[in-house]
Amino acid sequence: MSDARNLERLVLDAVSAAEAAAIAASFHVGGGDKEAADQAAVDALRTGLNAMDMKGRIVIGEGERDEAPMLYIGEEVGTGEGPEIDIALDPLEGTSLTARGMANALVLVSFAPRGGLLYAPDTYMDKIAVGSGFPAGVIDLDKSPSDNVKALAKAKGVRTDEIRVCVLERERHEHIVADIRTTGARVMMIPDGDVAGIIAATDPSTGIDLYVGQGGAPEGVLSATALRCVGGQMQARLFFRNDDERARAAKAGITELDRKYDLTELASSDCLFVATGVTEGDLVEGVRIRDSEISTETLIMQSSGSIVRRIRTVRPA
Ligand code: FBP
Repeated sequence: MSDARNLERLVLDAVSAAEAAAIAASFHVGGGDKEAADQAAVDALRTGLNAMDMKGRIVIGEGERDEAPMLYIGEEVGTGEGPEIDIALDPLEGTSLTARGMANALVLVSFAPRGGLLYAPDTYMDKIAVGSGFPAGVIDLDKSPSDNVKALAKAKGVRTDEIRVCVLERERHEHIVADIRTTGARVMMIPDGDVAGIIAATDPSTGIDLYVGQGGAPEGVLSATALRCVGGQMQARLFFRNDDERARAAKAGITELDRKYDLTELASSDCLFVATGVTEGDLVEGVRIRDSEISTETLIMQSSGSIVRRIRTVRPA
């Protein structure tokens, strides 16, 4: 069976697993305990993944085996029947958002045939991303943010002050923000959740044209799987703070530590991207518990055929 068909057959079970994780995490929204929220999502997601007919292997997970008892990198999941699948996941993207009752917390899982995803270590990653419809190379991680804004404005045929750039609000990004503003472009800050920020840059309805900044490497690979489905360009480079992080990269099989990756290296094959909302968000609505019903919304994107689906599920509470 083709890779695309194998992934297609996983859709409904993948949605069920992500929905269960989102519902479990939703009971911790606003509770102030991000670890508890994350653990609830991890437990439910793992149960769901283990019910899926696949020989699944986590390649981007909760961490390495010695630090993450569940959904660790290398953990095998699934019934053991079915295709060999690599999985990148973030059971709760936005643990702080959840604990603080803020928007845009998501359960994220991506699936690809074995070997289809970069085995990125749990370090930081510099990222730049833009939507589809521009000439190849319109963005370049090695150029300054302001030069990227100028190149994008030229490609779009607009003034630089019409460009909107999404940036994660962090002290380490102050120089990026200042540089972007020299062009007159607007900076739209997000408190957390750069996967949603990157996806926003691919969707004209959000008004965001470009994503720039440094976030988690796992989130970088997850974002790349989404972009592979909807189109767009992305470049990324791992960023290491110390030798321990460099050693993690070596353990993950990375030999060129300063390599600039493009989208097709981060996610090199067909893939399936699944995102369920925990709190209300720009991408999907959050878990809603009303009277005797629980509703969830999940965005499902497949690279083969560039298919985008949304499933809104209502179940008894
Ligand atoms: P959580 O760990 O709270 O889920 O935060 C997610 C996130 O905002 C990612 O979207 C982003 O890639 C990363 O954290 C940035 O890391 P840091 O908070 O250390 O700057």
